[in-house]
Amino acid sequence: MALIHGGQLQQIANQYKIPTEQWLDLSTGIAPTSYPIPHIPLSIWQNLPQSNSELLAAAKHYYQCEHVTVTNGSQAIIKALPQLWQLKNSTSQHVYLPKYGYKEHAQAWRKAGYELHFYLDELPPIDAIYLNSVLVIINPNNPTGKLFTRKIIMQYQALMQELNGLLVVDEAFMDVITDDHSICSQVENSNTLVFRSFGKFFGLAGIRIGFLVANKNWCNIFNEHLGPWQVNGPAQVVAQHALKDTAWHQQQKQQLNTLRKKQEALLWQAFGSEVIAEIRGTDLFLTLSFNDAESAEKIYKLLCQQAVYVRLTDEKDKLRFGITTKDKLNKLFNACHSIIPSPLSFFPLSES
Ligand SMILES: Cc1ncc(COP(=O)(O)O)c(C=O)c1O
Repeated sequence: MALIHGGQLQQIANQYKIPTEQWLDLSTGIAPTSYPIPHIPLSIWQNLPQSNSELLAAAKHYYQCEHVTVTNGSQAIIKALPQLWQLKNSTSQHVYLPKYGYKEHAQAWRKAGYELHFYLDELPPIDAIYLNSVLVIINPNNPTGKLFTRKIIMQYQALMQELNGLLVVDEAFMDVITDDHSICSQVENSNTLVFRSFGKFFGLAGIRIGFLVANKNWCNIFNEHLGPWQVNGPAQVVAQHALKDTAWHQQQKQQLNTLRKKQEALLWQAFGSEVIAEIRGTDLFLTLSFNDAESAEKIYKLLCQQAVYVRLTDEKDKLRFGITTKDKLNKLFNACHSIIPSPLSFFPLSES
């Protein structure tokens, strides 16, 4: 069964009978400002995409790694991995995953027949992990924002190697975290894979590009599995420029951090601590938990009625807000505030 993700504005707009252009779409963790599209020569549109050494060099430098595979989004790697790992270790049966986190990981392992074990905020106890198993860590986690240090992850890396297992670290949102958290520079053993997304931090999810950071052998396996023309030529050119533009990276990080702080303050102000229990997240999204868990679904629907589309978590107990630009904060505040006329008189509210 297909999983539900953010970014389904057309469908939600139809459901609530409000034209798409009237919506504030905060349903994803994609940056609201994007890397400016550089000039793309006509030949790039005309020719089949080829292996692009400039893009590979830019990616290796940006991710601080020796080997990288370019894909049309890290989703392609998530989907293909279980079968490829089975070929390497046919005795592997168990996979450990975050209970709250991007559900495509669990879906891929479940489909391949693995037994799934879920952990909460903390990683599973070291002495409880089966031989030959797989440990998936989303760092930082989407939607919980939970962040592990490199030191902790490397302890698990050593463990997974001892257990003849595999460590998978999904760093889709790592660009907005300090460099010393990423383990991209530590993947030269055959038991570690790191996934990186391009679209989120660079605000260009539509071009579909992502990376596998791993040792040479794993990169070769994936290159062969994915085959030629994974990533279209224009997307490669855009990424090649974007990954090299360090001045833009700094500006984007600074801007996202400022916007996140403003938005976090606004959400507290609009809902109040009578309603919100906690806000966690990263500079690319904010996840709200509520004093009454049932508030999440109610507020989700009420925000939709105001043409504000956020992401109701799969467990329906939290709301994740993407970060928006300064000019849209008013709409967000008014929508949030109007459904909570006074924090103390929260609910009864009519629902559709
Ligand atoms: C944690 C996480 N990993 C991976 C992905 C897949 O992203 P992409 O295929 O664009 O790299 C997503 C998408 O939302 C995500 O949230």
